Amino acid sequence: MKRLAIYPGTFDPITLGHVDVVRRGLQVFDRIVVAVAERAEKGPTFSHAERIAMAQETFAEEPRVEVQGFSGLLVEFARKLGAVAILRGLRAASDFEYEFQMATMNRRLAPELETFFVAAAEEFTFVSSSLIREIAAMGGDVGPFVPEAVARRLRARAQT
Ligand code: COA
Repeated sequence: MKRLAIYPGTFDPITLGHVDVVRRGLQVFDRIVVAVAERAEKGPTFSHAERIAMAQETFAEEPRVEVQGFSGLLVEFARKLGAVAILRGLRAASDFEYEFQMATMNRRLAPELETFFVAAAEEFTFVSSSLIREIAAMGGDVGPFVPEAVARRLRARAQT
């Protein structure tokens, strides 16, 4: 049986830190669905369609990764896909509390779905989507931290 994991996030925008989590996940799971949450309430900078498109372009060459958008409860979407696990990355101890709370709540909602954490690569432990947006808006070079599909869009935004 092929083991499918779901990697959920807002991905506003997706960073090389997120890509690293997927790459590590692929060593354990057969397929990964990168699930881009709509999260309109979070007031994302990029639209849902743009966030999905950036992730799709990022993983275009990886047949074992699929990108899908979703709204509503993560566990419902994971069940619909037939996922056996939720994948998340931990960058530092500060991520732990929030991640542990989500993992525990998701387990109460769907006991059959296990959350797996991977430790982020050292070179991306300081990367976050909001820092990327801030640096790009001020004309800084975010090229080393984001996929090309994201860098291109951020450059275009900074010029408008
Ligand atoms: N590398 C780089 N950045 C990382 C990272 C990593 N390994 N891990 C986390 N981040 C950063 C992101 O850049 C982002 O930074 P920001 O706060 O500066 O913008 C932040 O951590 C978290 O973003 P992201 O990884 O996109 O995930 P999220 O925390 O926004 O995702 C959902 C939350 C979507 C998984 C959660 O809200 C959800 O499941 N929603 C659906 C509704 C639901 O089921 N709710 C009940 C949940 S119990």
